[in-house]
Amino acid sequence: MKRRISILGATGSVGTSTLDLVERHPDRFEVIALTAATNAAALADCARRTGAKLAVITDERKFDELRDLLAGSGCRAATGHDAMLEAAAGDAEWVMAAIVGCAGLEPVMAAVEAGRTIALANKEALVTAGWLMTDAAKRAGATILPVDSEHNAIFQCLAGNSHDGVAKLILTASGGPFRTWTKADMDVARPEQALAHPNWSMGAKISIDSATMMNKGLELIEAHHLFGLSSARIDILVHPQSVIHSMVEYVDGSVIAQLGSPDMRIPIAHALAWPERITTRAETLDLIKIATLSFEPPDEQRFPSLRLARAALESGKGEAIVLNAANELAVAAFLDRRIAFGDIARIVERAIEETDAPAPSSIAEVIDIDQSVRHKVGESLSSLVA
Ligand SMILES: NC(=O)c1ccc[n+]([C@@H]2O[C@H](COP(=O)([O-])OP(=O)(O)OC[C@H]3O[C@@H](n4cnc5c(N)ncnc54)[C@H](OP(=O)(O)O)[C@@H]3O)[C@@H](O)[C@H]2O)c1
Repeated sequence: MKRRISILGATGSVGTSTLDLVERHPDRFEVIALTAATNAAALADCARRTGAKLAVITDERKFDELRDLLAGSGCRAATGHDAMLEAAAGDAEWVMAAIVGCAGLEPVMAAVEAGRTIALANKEALVTAGWLMTDAAKRAGATILPVDSEHNAIFQCLAGNSHDGVAKLILTASGGPFRTWTKADMDVARPEQALAHPNWSMGAKISIDSATMMNKGLELIEAHHLFGLSSARIDILVHPQSVIHSMVEYVDGSVIAQLGSPDMRIPIAHALAWPERITTRAETLDLIKIATLSFEPPDEQRFPSLRLARAALESGKGEAIVLNAANELAVAAFLDRRIAFGDIARIVERAIEETDAPAPSSIAEVIDIDQSVRHKVGESLSSLVA
């Protein structure tokens, strides 16, 4: 039986890597639905190549273009909120959640509530919805498989071991393109410098998050929700080669690590075929060529986003929603050249200081907090000229 899959965010970096694997293994996967925000041409191309049944575009202005591009293909073009939820919770049993940002939250929740297996790349959805999502997954019998390379590594390191024996999780971080830069140099860094990640090829938002190290902060919160450990038992370790993707330390002193080339097709393949394994086109790890693996402590002075994310998690309230929304807006403003690199963390910190967000008891409350922060931060950013 082929696995019936949907890919939310099919035209992005993770979506494209997922399609690469699906097309390599046509005997194993049947594509049901694909989605994108605005890129109708790429979406139609993916839908035609894979024989998808449904293609959903978020931007309604692009619907006519998508429908025309898919004419005669047998793939239905659609747009709108309900169509997105259909892509997430319709006929597919396995869903790749690869939309970027909190925009992915509602589709992910629809898949969770429908009891699907969700390969979760869209970390912002889990960061904002936290226990609401993991509790809903338990109730609905949904399975959440981590795709982020660090969490996928931890998932693999935990397999076959008693979770009671876990002492701590060690999330590795490359340190990003500014690992060795001074704070003064980083303050005036340009978008093209921040986008130039030394090891990974990724979408723009996560690349900027890697440069500020907010990505690792979001991953800390993600790890807490996925694996149920307190912030105090999740360490961050800078490892510039990105060969060890994360580790689990057990109470007996054993440390289990997962290694691989820095290629997202490896963790995606793991989630795609789980509990089996499939081949990928990723480069095989050559440890003799790499020769040295090095480690450093993270620097929260130069990378304040790490401190902000840990504090947001420890607040036990809705601070992670505020942190995420303010960060999404600040990153977009930086990419538009409206603010300096150093302003990103300052904007996030100010939003947290100025917002008292209670712990949400429903997804509607998460969306309310997210929208009110976007409104407030958006207003202060709109006065800046691009
Ligand atoms: N890239 C990586 O290597 C990597 C690794 C680990 C985790 N992740 C996580 O995976 C997620 C996706 O990252 P990415 O790098 O693949 O992002 P990306 O390249 O920017 O792709 C984002 C995808 O989401 C769609 N999209 C964007 N905004 C949307 C909206 N408002 N509503 C619906 N769809 C929307 C885009 O469609 P269009 O193409 O039409 O804009 C695209 O298909 C992020 O949460 C990221 O943190 C990524």
